[in-house]
Amino acid sequence: MPSTTAVPHPIRSAAELETMRESGRVVALALEAVRAAAVPGVKLRDLDDIARTALHEAGAESSFFGYAPAWAPTAYKGVLCLSPNEVVVHGPPTGRRVSDGDVLSIDFGAAVDGWHGDAAITVHIGSSTEEDRRLVSATEEALAAGIAAAVPGATLLDIATAVDAVAKRHGFAHLPDHGGHGIGRAMHEAPFVPNQPFAAARDQRLEAGHTLAIEPMLLAGSSEYRTARDGWSVVTRDRRRAAHAEHTVAVTDDGPLILTAP
Ligand code: MF3
Ligand code: CO
Repeated sequence: MPSTTAVPHPIRSAAELETMRESGRVVALALEAVRAAAVPGVKLRDLDDIARTALHEAGAESSFFGYAPAWAPTAYKGVLCLSPNEVVVHGPPTGRRVSDGDVLSIDFGAAVDGWHGDAAITVHIGSSTEEDRRLVSATEEALAAGIAAAVPGATLLDIATAVDAVAKRHGFAHLPDHGGHGIGRAMHEAPFVPNQPFAAARDQRLEAGHTLAIEPMLLAGSSEYRTARDGWSVVTRDRRRAAHAEHTVAVTDDGPLILTAP
């Protein structure tokens, strides 16, 4: 028997994908509301309130609030992850105010009838430098390339190779040890979806009905990182900036379907 490192990746029915499209739409609308409010001087906590209101109006549940993975010291207290500048991902909403020229990753997850959607954008607060615009647009381009590779018969190595090629072309590093994930009944499911090619990812083949979150995290400086004292925020060691972009995607016979599109 051929050896394989593939892990089970559930196939979703058309009806299940319909429900995931609903949660994805809630995620997209909330992200756009938060983007519009992300102006100089706003408190991260105020942005969290905007997303919480959007969630309640939609009758959806937060995928993040109360989340308590083994690696975290405390259950998560927000509905958004808000990660400014040197914070790469998983920044909790605090009283920190964003300033003109900041970049801010906004990450949001919502569930409808127990089916999750997860997406992230990185926005410029007020004005932006050429270098920051390059970082953010390269991250968006890397996400688009990863999504385009999510077709039946391809493998997770194809996604990682596509994401990585964009990062390399623009000269940006990846956040090591992090990547995307299967998603459905839980926000985080198998398989791990790498942004950097490694051989075993070739064993994880994609089929129609697979759902996954693809999320490049690109760094302007070196790839060294640490976890902040809050136990959540992932911060670059050199304090240089990062960008993050994410969509929840379904693999279909008609090509990749972005479930977290507006
Ligand atoms: N959206 C993040 C991810 O894709 C998860 C946030 S961690 C949480 O991995 F605690 F905020 F939920
Ligand atoms: Co995710």
